This record gives sequence, structure tokens and C-alpha cells, in this order.
Amino acid sequence: MVEHVAQPEWTEVERWLTRTVVKPGPEHERALETAEARGMPPIEVQPTSGKLLNLLVRISGAARVLEIGTLAGFSSIWMAQALPAGGHLDTLEYLPEHADVARQNLAAAGLAEKVTVHVGRALETLARLSGPYDLVFIDADKQNNSRYLEWAVRLGRPGTVVVLDNAVWEGTLLHPDGGDQDAPFIVESLELLGGPLFDATVVQTAGSKGWDGFALAVVR
Ligand SMILES: C[S@@+](CC[C@H](N)C(=O)[O-])C[C@H]1O[C@@H](n2cnc3c(N)ncnc32)[C@H](O)[C@@H]1O
Repeated sequence: MVEHVAQPEWTEVERWLTRTVVKPGPEHERALETAEARGMPPIEVQPTSGKLLNLLVRISGAARVLEIGTLAGFSSIWMAQALPAGGHLDTLEYLPEHADVARQNLAAAGLAEKVTVHVGRALETLARLSGPYDLVFIDADKQNNSRYLEWAVRLGRPGTVVVLDNAVWEGTLLHPDGGDQDAPFIVESLELLGGPLFDATVVQTAGSKGWDGFALAVVR
């Protein structure tokens, strides 16, 4: 696993931007606090990225959203808050204890009706879902990134927005044979995003989670 090392200034800038521009609510803070109290790993998206997901749902007008990788529901809350009336988020989580915390956080945010947390291996859950989804956010086990992208196409439609987290992974994509077990799968998924199925780009990010990036795409 690559070590994520945040430069102190990146974290300071992120805090400033979060405070001044993003302005998370108590429901976002609560999700982070409960995750920490339950000993969950601090691997949720940073608040600036959570808000980006929120804006992408709104900008694209997405009403059906699929998330792969729930953790404590931090990114789920940001996306569900952007859904129009009648919109819905399906979020997929392998660990029942993570799903429990996420359900509590979503309920505390008043979003229980808008979100279904599905427990199990994402590849098995995906086979039971039906599309079309308008936006798909992929943030789970990197080894299956490419399989998840294929599912995003299968459960999507032309124009479906796809977001893939951890696209830069401390720059290890330049050295996929350098020993990080996830790097080759991240490279594979980026090559898929650069192929005929998608129209894509990657936005590099630096902050409390180190040097990373969000891949943004639409299904062709
Ligand atoms: C990086 S965290 C998700 C963070 C979340 N999207 C956020 O930003 O708040 C990844 C989550 O994916 C889950 N996960 C890992 N492998 C999975 C799989 N095969 N199927 C479903 N969930 C999986 C992990 O248990 C973990 O909770």
C-alpha cells in the first residue's frame, strides 16, 4: 500500500478552503467523528472532493447515483444531499460494520430514505442492480477498478458521469512495477478511461490525503 504523505501546507490550504469555500455542515462533521470513534480508517474523500461530488450530481442533474465504497457514508452524504426530489443513491459496502455506521450517519443527516446501503462484495451486488445510473462514483478496492468501470458502462448510458478516486496515488502510476500492489490496477483503469468507452480527464489533488487525483469521465 502506498504511503500517503501530506505536506503541511497542503493540509493548511485544504482547511482554509474547507472553512472559507466548502463549509461542511454538522452532518458531515458527525460522519467523520463517528468513523474515528469506531476506529475506521481515515480514507474518506477530503471535504473539497466531497463538495465536488455534490456539485457534479447537481451540475449533471443526476437522479440515480451509484457509489462503490461507502465506508462511513461521508461521500454518500455529500452526493445524496444533491439529489433532486425522488432521486436515489445506491451505495455498496463490503464490511457490515462500515455499512452500519454509514446507515446511522445517513439517518442522522435526514437522508435514510434517499440512500440504500447494500452490503456484500461489490461485484456480486452490481450483478443484481439495474440501471441506468446517471452518475457512478468508484472508491473501493483498487484491484477491481476496471471491473467497476465496465459495470459503470453496463449500468449506465451514453452521458453517464463516472468519477474514480485515487487516480494519481502519490504518482505511483509512473512506476507500476515499483512494489505498490494497487498501482498496476490504477494504471489499467486509467488506460480503460483513455479508451473508446469513455471521454475522460484526471484532476490532480493535494491535501490532507496526500498527492492524488480524481478521474472524471462520461460514458460515450
Ligand atoms: C476508500 S473507502 C470509501 C470512502 C467513501 N467513498 C468516502 O469517501 O466517504 C473504501 C470502502 O470500500 C469498501 N470495500 C473494499 N472492497 C470492497 C468490495 N470488494 N466491495 C464493496 N466494498 C468494498 C471498504 O470496506 C471501504 O469501506
